[in-house]
Amino acid sequence: MNSPILAGLGLRKNFRSGSKDIEVLKGIDVSLNEGEFISIQGESGSGKTTLLNLLSGLETSDGGEINWAGENVSKFKINSLARKRRGFLSLVFQSYYLVPEIDALANVAMGARIAGLDLDWRSRSKTLMERVGLGERLHSLPSTLSGGERQRVAIARAMCANPKVILADEPTGNLDEGTGDAVIDLLRSLCSEEKIGLVLVTHNNAHASMADSKYHLKDGLLHKEA
Ligand SMILES: Nc1ncnc2c1ncn2[C@@H]1O[C@H](COP(=O)(O)OP(=O)(O)OP(=O)(O)O)[C@@H](O)[C@H]1O
Ligand SMILES: [Mg+2]
Repeated sequence: MNSPILAGLGLRKNFRSGSKDIEVLKGIDVSLNEGEFISIQGESGSGKTTLLNLLSGLETSDGGEINWAGENVSKFKINSLARKRRGFLSLVFQSYYLVPEIDALANVAMGARIAGLDLDWRSRSKTLMERVGLGERLHSLPSTLSGGERQRVAIARAMCANPKVILADEPTGNLDEGTGDAVIDLLRSLCSEEKIGLVLVTHNNAHASMADSKYHLKDGLLHKEA
């Protein structure tokens, strides 16, 4: 059997609050196969964002191991990890984080540019804008797009780098129900078509239930729903 595309083994994370340490993650085991979709739910403050930050290498853990495509990257230095992240893992956030001064197409192209890939940015970005249903809005500034449209641009940007994995942290948190459903449908179908593994953190039970496996984060541990 192939090794998972992304795995966390015994992940621990503590934060200091005043004079004491708070154990946020107490030994998390999680793995994602190529093209698999998993969801993570949990109360506010349970550590979901912290877990995604560890898996993406944006924060260092206080214990445990992280594997990307079978390679232990836990001990990598920030720069080599950032280089390795390019074209491997992309993130989608609740607040989109688009660059306000440049148009939607240029925002999408940033995904590939950040990835430093030798791609034809322009044509790939345009194709992705069409795939997310925004072929008519290539030159719109983010401020002139709706929340759902902005998130679709952010999804196209995440896809532009040809990643193996997308981590999405409450991507529908700022959207109304119908728009949120459409965004999740889009994210799910694009990831499935491109065999991209997807980790979705969400408070929406219906979205979480669409995943191949459903997890809950509680008291610092991750539990798989049977
Ligand atoms: N940099 C930090 N310094 C200190 N404490 C932190 C830091 N980052 C997170 N925490 C604490 O760790 C805990 C988990 O935070 P985290 O943001 O991972 O929760 P979450 O599950 O994503 O919550 P939400 O659903 O509200 O987004 C919280 O108690 C938070 O206050
Ligand atoms: Mg969070």
